[in-house]
Amino acid sequence: MDKFLINGPCKIKGKVSISGSKNASIPILAATLLFNKPVIIKNLPKVRDINTMLNLLKSLGSKITLSRDRKTAKIINKKNMKTFASYSLVKTMRGSILVLGPLISKFYKSKISLPGGCLIGARPVDYHLSALKKLGMEYKIRDGYILAKSNGRLKGEIIKFPKISVGATENSIIAACLAKGKTILKNCAVEPEIKDLTQFLNKAGANIRWSGRICTIIGINSLTSTNYTVMADRIEAGTFCVAATLTKGSLQIKNLDPKMINTELELLKKFGAKIKINNNNIFIKGPDKIKSIKNIKTKEFPGIPTDLQAQLMVLMCKSSGKSSITESIFENRFMHVAELQRLGAKINVINNKAIIEGNTKLKGAELMSSDLRASVALVLAAMVANGKSIVGRVYHLERGYENIENKLQKIGVKIKRLK
Ligand code: EPZ
Repeated sequence: MDKFLINGPCKIKGKVSISGSKNASIPILAATLLFNKPVIIKNLPKVRDINTMLNLLKSLGSKITLSRDRKTAKIINKKNMKTFASYSLVKTMRGSILVLGPLISKFYKSKISLPGGCLIGARPVDYHLSALKKLGMEYKIRDGYILAKSNGRLKGEIIKFPKISVGATENSIIAACLAKGKTILKNCAVEPEIKDLTQFLNKAGANIRWSGRICTIIGINSLTSTNYTVMADRIEAGTFCVAATLTKGSLQIKNLDPKMINTELELLKKFGAKIKINNNNIFIKGPDKIKSIKNIKTKEFPGIPTDLQAQLMVLMCKSSGKSSITESIFENRFMHVAELQRLGAKINVINNKAIIEGNTKLKGAELMSSDLRASVALVLAAMVANGKSIVGRVYHLERGYENIENKLQKIGVKIKRLK
């Protein structure tokens, strides 16, 4: 398994282009199962999770032609597709559960492995199943698989999610596109990636309207051919903005609509970062002295994203006083704390709140990645630690960050891959 060797401390300088969004690409690729006609998806990030998703679609019968740079996929579905998604594929990427909605809506049946949990939490899919059941899906769970079927076309319904869920909102919207009649989804997640999904579907003839957290879908018979460019990855952009603030560097972030990370930019200004915006460019300069902030809480969009919590925790280690951050979305998303403590971080966890001492001198160490965002937090910490750090299991990073070491090398980080 590859590792990264990082020599710190460093100060980043230069510009970085943000890749396509992993978390917009996954539901959009799942939704291509609804199509009878060819569909072209552009700006896909070259990351492991997208490869997994493309392999899943191929296993279901989609014919996929990739451009030379692997960022554009032309997808043509067969008339009779398979509807079985195996544990071996689903367990490597939980987002695979998003093929359930389109398969049941288009083919009226599906056998798909329960995704199972991961290190950040149990990750149940009960909200997905109860919403699809209301649309007419019948299912039973056997041997770790969801055996689902419907008696013909799904029927529109009014559904209120018990809790805000990105995946359950996406699965339900996709399924409702071909359902008979109107579906009204209430208490929806409204992440930009979900709006990207609905923009894609509407471009192909779907009828999806938003009003706050209410999404109304009028079912249609079929979608037309289209091509769509996936939005930029706001979590990657947020990660680089944290890196600039953390290393007291200066960075130009390109290809992202700054409105996507307004909350994060406002927060980084409170830490002391200087930020200027023009057109689709963000110019961020880290402060000489990073301010400390207490009582930050991760929240559903438009709040502070849980996918940035680990990265912000590293910033707090280097701030000028005590800070705290509460993880409100997942029950076990502090796996990075123990690794940061090996670098010298002083972090105390009480339930889902972490209290972080500032002004910490971090010293390079051997580190182990656990999940995608925790891994990038370890890279950030190694960038401001004194001496050499080795970050193991970089395949976690490769799931969601395209060419991360090349992008970091180009802005002055002394990082290299050890085979
Ligand atoms: C999506 O996961 C993202 N993944 C996650 O990003 C992100 O952290 C998360 O949304 C929250 O923003 C993708 O988009 C592929 P949820 P998802 O359903 O859809 C509970 C990354 O690093 N819940 O909004 O799985 C759940 O356990 C990944 O890119 C149920 O209880 O998140 C969690 O506590 C990590 N039952 C909360 O709701 C359900 O049926 C929010 O989960 C579904 C969710």
